[in-house]
Amino acid sequence: MDHFLYRDGQLMAEDVNIAEIAAQVGTPFYVYSTATLLRHFKLFDDALSGMDHLVCFAVKSLSNVAVLKLLGDAGAGMDVVSGGEYLRAKAAGVSGDKIVFSGIGKTREEMRLALEGGIRQFNVESEPEMEVLSQVALSLNTVAPITVRVNPDVDAKTHAKISTGKKEDKFGIPISRAREVYAMAAKLRGLKVIGIDVHIGSQLTELEPFRLAYRKVAELTEQLRSDGHDITRLDLGGGLGIPYARDNNAPPLPREYGALIKEEVGHLGCEIEIEPGRLISGNAGLLVAKVIYVKSGEDREFLIVDAAMNDLIRPAMYDAWHDIVPVIEPVAGVDQTPYDVVGPICESGDTFAKGRMLPPLDPDALVAFRSAGAYSAVMSSEYNSRPLIPEVLVNGDQFAVIRRRPTFEDMINRDTIPEWM
Ligand code: LLP
Repeated sequence: MDHFLYRDGQLMAEDVNIAEIAAQVGTPFYVYSTATLLRHFKLFDDALSGMDHLVCFAVKSLSNVAVLKLLGDAGAGMDVVSGGEYLRAKAAGVSGDKIVFSGIGKTREEMRLALEGGIRQFNVESEPEMEVLSQVALSLNTVAPITVRVNPDVDAKTHAKISTGKKEDKFGIPISRAREVYAMAAKLRGLKVIGIDVHIGSQLTELEPFRLAYRKVAELTEQLRSDGHDITRLDLGGGLGIPYARDNNAPPLPREYGALIKEEVGHLGCEIEIEPGRLISGNAGLLVAKVIYVKSGEDREFLIVDAAMNDLIRPAMYDAWHDIVPVIEPVAGVDQTPYDVVGPICESGDTFAKGRMLPPLDPDALVAFRSAGAYSAVMSSEYNSRPLIPEVLVNGDQFAVIRRRPTFEDMINRDTIPEWM
């Protein structure tokens, strides 16, 4: 559920008219709903009630500091994967003891940053990383709390580019070698082993892969305890999928996911962490664009809009579907026609949708791409020297620009011409 609904023929973001935002900030822009973000966070928080738990928002999905502050103030922890994300979480006022550091390629500088600024735990993904982290911690006279990310070799049944829990994927250490790796970790003086981490992929639309992975983690918890390790925390990753198409079979709900967690690992008495990103932010955002031209091809109509693959790369990168809706509500029963919805970028991959059924649209009409809260702004670029576009946050009847549109000068002046020229 989200808070982008038509009211009196106009698409609204909560109580704000989207056409009104467009008039003030120009197009294209992203708009996020406070109510939806908070609602989705709370669904997870409630789903784990009765267990000692922390819901750590996956910052990679939507990293605007205002959004992080909103969720942090609501009680969320943060899952970060870079020094930049760590500093964003800190800038949002999240305390270090609620920030989890994930990722396979943490550098010494990133480790130092987090150890100095405070960290809940590092999710370590390899033996070399363990050794380096131990050294860095000792050099700072401290001890780094860690979990080891295990790769359970489970098929998440999602898009290959976002599956992470199969043995051919680059993530984690094979679960079959976990006991020896934990034995090694226990010997490193700069580390304190506190738990186990697992994350098998993103946009999962079934619960079964989670069940298989968590069952393996539960078994491993018991083995590691019998080996003498103090396993008190399980980080179960993110990945629960969202409905991208309105007519889709909806993926399982956080409530069902929470029940599964209780069933599979509840008896272990561990503190539970999860790292959802997309389900919290995905349907809490739209990308709003304007039609520039309607062009007739030989056998099709192209709707050329002012947003492009640099603003929303998911269709080009994963063949992802995003619902597209007009900002002015179509009259009931109006004939729809198929459009290829494309951006202005000079490659054919800059196509959002082919043969998408839409009511007739004219130049200057506004359209909204739904489910653009997650992995949209964060994956944007300036390809074709298109400046990054603004992010807007709505709260009830108010809205604020939470990242302004850079000027062309901002963009161009980042380049410097060497003196010798
Ligand atoms: N934890 C870890 C360690 C992750 O790698 C990820 C996502 C998450 C949590 C959050 O997963 P979520 O709940 O959002 O599914 N750019 C792709 C998605 C990449 C996901 C990467 N890792 C897309 O647009 O579909």
